[in-house]
Amino acid sequence: MKRHTSPEALVNAARAVRQSAHAPYSKFRVGAAVADEAGRIHVGCNVENASYGLTICAERNAIAAAVAAGARRVVAAAVASGSRPPASPCGACRQVLAEFASPGAPVFIAGPAGEPAETSVGALLPLTFTFQAPPTSRRRR
Ligand code: THU
Repeated sequence: MKRHTSPEALVNAARAVRQSAHAPYSKFRVGAAVADEAGRIHVGCNVENASYGLTICAERNAIAAAVAAGARRVVAAAVASGSRPPASPCGACRQVLAEFASPGAPVFIAGPAGEPAETSVGALLPLTFTFQAPPTSRRRR
């Protein structure tokens, strides 16, 4: 991780922002924190909706906050929840993480206390989808 973002700081930030979760339906509070290329930490929590499918996960909200703050890359991420074993990022969040983070970027998966598990973006989502625009075709007259 660049510029002194410690795993502890990242995990603490993810644990702290869990308190802000809007989870009246599932009661499952999730917090996430991402470190950017400048060493800044950005956080997000899950935000549920009465129309359940509109719920946004903590990880994607943290990444959206990072991008809005001018971050270009995510160099490490942490997700914190209250379950045992602690929740790891859902498929959608893995793809969104892979948009901004290299396969080697560490991802810390934490419960409410104790040592987090460590994995990586590449381990969570091998064979990531990447978009390659097709060559522009000329229309025949
Ligand atoms: N959730 C997250 O915030 N992140 C994940 O990676 C998985 C699930 C949230 C969404 C919903 O508010 C609650 O957990 C239960 O699914």
